[in-house]
Amino acid sequence: MPTVTVLGATGKTGRAVVRAALARGLAVRGTSRRHVDDGSGAGWLVADVASGQGLAEAFEGAEAAYLLMPNVHPGETEAMARAARLARGAGVDRLVYHSVADPDDARMPHHLRKGGAEEAVRAVDPGAVVLRPCAYLQNLTGAARAGQLAVPYRLDRPFSLVDLGDVAEVAAAALAGELPAGTTVTLGGPEELTVAQLAARAEQALGRPVAATRTSVQEWVAGPGAQVHGSAREDLLAMFAAYDETGFTADPGPLARLLGRPATTWAQALRLEDR
Ligand SMILES: NC(=O)c1ccc[n+]([C@@H]2O[C@H](COP(=O)([O-])OP(=O)(O)OC[C@H]3O[C@@H](n4cnc5c(N)ncnc54)[C@H](OP(=O)(O)O)[C@@H]3O)[C@@H](O)[C@H]2O)c1
Repeated sequence: MPTVTVLGATGKTGRAVVRAALARGLAVRGTSRRHVDDGSGAGWLVADVASGQGLAEAFEGAEAAYLLMPNVHPGETEAMARAARLARGAGVDRLVYHSVADPDDARMPHHLRKGGAEEAVRAVDPGAVVLRPCAYLQNLTGAARAGQLAVPYRLDRPFSLVDLGDVAEVAAAALAGELPAGTTVTLGGPEELTVAQLAARAEQALGRPVAATRTSVQEWVAGPGAQVHGSAREDLLAMFAAYDETGFTADPGPLARLLGRPATTWAQALRLEDR
């Protein structure tokens, strides 16, 4: 049973990747900055992806590594380059980097940092696999179930949101060595929907009212974004401005091909527990 190390394994994405890797029969080692004992079946090691502390030990003896950075972290490019070097130095055969769709979109600095990280990881290991997911359906499932999708951008822009469980299934396949070395793949969801359409479909799926509301950027800063400061706030405001301009869509083809089944829809994700 190959051992795989998943960085950032306590976050939304990392948890999903750990679950999918365990379900595939891989021996999983997750990292966190604190001690974790969650009964998930994964082993845990203390490491900090941002400082690099503990990473070399976390990679020791692993066959594959999932390189994942906390969201909108300003040091992503350098930290991912270091993680790739440490993983290869520890003898890890397969690197999988969690990027984003449109990593060269210059309107969003955090996308550009992922573009830089892709190049840096590939410079260390040309065979690394790069996954480029669109934004997740699960960013909005909780709000939809609570009856309101409130966003600080236009309600009529298209998004091809992707199910995090589907992304994690592909991640686990990549960790298991089932994607060709050097693959870069965009993971868009199966539907292109505006926030207004997401709300309408959520009403149908859940059988109760779900409102779509456009809030101002100022309302976001004073409300949901009040605890987000500095460059992270600037990154998210830049992202909202890009969403306001064009939405965020991505090719849905590769995901269904890799899954070997239709990808999960918004209505299906709403009826499932978040994963
Ligand atoms: N959300 C989306 O729609 C989406 C779409 C495409 C790509 N992505 C990308 O997916 C990646 C993962 O996002 P996520 O939201 O799942 O992760 P996250 O929760 O932002 O971070 C993952 C883990 O990193 C650790 N962490 C947090 N802040 C840190 C810091 N300052 N220094 C060191 N470690 C820190 C935390 O673990 P401990 O506290 O346990 O150490 C956290 O659980 C991001 O790079 C994001 O850009 C997200």
